[in-house]
Amino acid sequence: MVSGENINKDLSACMVIFGGTGDLTHRKLMPALYNLVHDGLLPERFAVVSVGRREKSQEQYRNEVYNSLNQYSRNKIDENHWAKLRELIYYFQFDFTEMDGYLKLKDFLEELDKKAHTGGNRVFYLAVAPEYFETIVQGIHIGRLAENEGAWSRLVIEKPFGKDLATARKLNNKLLEVFTENNIYRIDHYLGKEMIQNIMVLRFCNFIFESLWSNKFIDNIQISLTEKHGVGTRGGYYENSGAMRDMVQNHIIQILSLVAMEPPVNLKTDSIRTEKLKVIQAIEEFTPELLRDNVVFGQYGRGVVDGVPVPGYREEEKVSPNSMTETFVALKLHINNLRWAGTPFYIRTGKRLGVWSAEIVVQFKSLPKILYFKDMYIQEPNLLVIRIQPSVGVFFQFNTKDFSTHNDIVTTKMDSSHISLNQGNTPEAYERLLYDILRGDATLFSRWDEVEASWMFADRIIEYREQKKLNFPNYEAGTMGPVKAFELLARDGRQWWNI
Ligand code: BG6
Repeated sequence: MVSGENINKDLSACMVIFGGTGDLTHRKLMPALYNLVHDGLLPERFAVVSVGRREKSQEQYRNEVYNSLNQYSRNKIDENHWAKLRELIYYFQFDFTEMDGYLKLKDFLEELDKKAHTGGNRVFYLAVAPEYFETIVQGIHIGRLAENEGAWSRLVIEKPFGKDLATARKLNNKLLEVFTENNIYRIDHYLGKEMIQNIMVLRFCNFIFESLWSNKFIDNIQISLTEKHGVGTRGGYYENSGAMRDMVQNHIIQILSLVAMEPPVNLKTDSIRTEKLKVIQAIEEFTPELLRDNVVFGQYGRGVVDGVPVPGYREEEKVSPNSMTETFVALKLHINNLRWAGTPFYIRTGKRLGVWSAEIVVQFKSLPKILYFKDMYIQEPNLLVIRIQPSVGVFFQFNTKDFSTHNDIVTTKMDSSHISLNQGNTPEAYERLLYDILRGDATLFSRWDEVEASWMFADRIIEYREQKKLNFPNYEAGTMGPVKAFELLARDGRQWWNI
């Protein structure tokens, strides 16, 4: 997203990562920092302090980071860039459930502020399991780590933000005891993805799209985030989450709000967030009838993905053999405002499906069945597809006359493939997000009221799932989900598009 509001020019800061030895730090955060160095975007006066429980030396930790960079960085490691980053990395060992440690950390950070000239600015990044969020924030409070005269302190928090509305509210209130709302950065890594940022540009910088962007011209919109992976080693987390909490409450609702929002009055963070919020608030309430008819849950059984036999969800590590957790959701919803009333939005997400893809398909209305489409030709609809991954770009489908015959009508598919070719090297979402945190631009992070509204929406559906008797597993790994997900659209005379 291009935000017009920017914000602090001096990016000097010390970033403290709680969970410094964890997966997220090694796979995403350190590679993102490296690539910021590579692109010349990391400030000179910067330090990163990784907090971990395990005993290890600075050298040992730095070497581990180096190995991770070699594995996960999108840019090949250049020794000069690495030498620069290496000097900025510190390891600080303590158990973050013990409050004494925060006082020692304070001293350490103050020394570092002097050495690295970071101006006392702090980013606290919670890359830990959610049960530690409140404890760490309490430690930051007790150690007075976020109170630095004349400097700023920001808190970055990963999902899940609560497990329902009540727990999310409780967590939020805890955070607000230490940080103000505008210093809380709730990460939704989808917002850092190139094409998600592009939704607003595509809509609001192209007259042809924006003038057709409504129920008058659009037949339906589909948002599909489909994955081939199973739950892997995350069974313990996923059992308490399921696809609704893992993907719908956050990533999908955020995408939906960008696709359906009204143009903001300007590009300031809060103007954009306010328009997104209105979309979530306008989602038609799910009555018992709508829940029954418009929501499909699924769980994968054994199957074959890419030619390899894979276990069913209930056979995965740390998953109950009788688990009733959904690994797939499809739903149809309406946004009840003047722009969208009557145009259905179909949403689908799941694990162990046959295709790995994230895309938004906008299907325009069809022409009346007269002239060319009277009887001779089958009419293919105009489709605009925003391809988020693995291809990154825009696809557009329209009808033309075939060059090689006298009068056949054919479908022309325009694909912005030059972007797709580069997809391996588009800035990783975390690079953009970390850079924005340093700049103090919160546009790509969720504001509390958006999170609150999306929990209200999700809670209703989750409650329904918990009460409903479901017959799981109900789809084979490697397929595109339960039959009912196809029926959901077929009933309306529509189909899922896989472009
Ligand atoms: C995470 C979910 O938020 O997003 C995972 O917890 C999911 O279950 C992942 O696999 C998908 O993200 P991406 O960027 O790989 O599409």
